[in-house]
Amino acid sequence: MAMDGEFHVRKARLADAEGIYALIREHTMELVPRSLGNVVENIDRFLVAEGPDGSLVGCIAYQIWPEIGDPLKATVELQSVAVRASVRRKGIGRQLVQGTISRVRVLAPADVTVLTLAPEFFASLGFREIPKTRIMHKLYTGCINCTKHTDPFTCPEKAMALEVGRI
Ligand SMILES: CC(C)(COP(=O)(O)OP(=O)(O)OC[C@H]1O[C@@H](n2cnc3c(N)ncnc32)[C@H](O)[C@@H]1OP(=O)(O)O)[C@@H](O)C(=O)NCCC(=O)NCCS
Repeated sequence: MAMDGEFHVRKARLADAEGIYALIREHTMELVPRSLGNVVENIDRFLVAEGPDGSLVGCIAYQIWPEIGDPLKATVELQSVAVRASVRRKGIGRQLVQGTISRVRVLAPADVTVLTLAPEFFASLGFREIPKTRIMHKLYTGCINCTKHTDPFTCPEKAMALEVGRI
């Protein structure tokens, strides 16, 4: 999908599932955990970045959330965004996010959102902070089961969105 000579971003294959699972487990503080089975079920929504030796150094996935009361006005949430610490600040995260935005553009979502502890990274890609009340579907289905924080409104993760027109 994208080449910079050293790293390659491409659609994930089933054979990548264990590597994705391991990468997500390396980021327990920043990412929502996923079982290996969940990675496999959603493999067609993952992109991966591989290094020159073929090793997996980054991943990203997305999920579609129908808006409550207006199901066709769905948002796309970016999930499981991670780049191995040793190869950060080389533009791999940017390629993963931009690659996913290119994939979902055809769906014409209301916006692309993310809940994140890395707001500077997403701000550099055009995302802006939004009130968490704009992602109630996510709070009710995801955050309500969170084992790290008791209240999504005091959780340190920021809600951010890339607005229509910038997607
Ligand atoms: C966030 C993360 C995916 C960024 O990956 P990356 O490959 O290092 O990002 P890029 O190199 O594409 O950075 C693009 C731009 O984002 C900004 N940026 C990236 N990391 C940043 C940081 N730690 N602090 C401030 N700005 C940052 C910079 O503007 C950067 O451009 P520059 O390097 O030319 O200045 C990576 O740091 C990571 O895996 N973190 C741990 C997991 C995590 O927090 N994931 C997000 C949860 S949704």
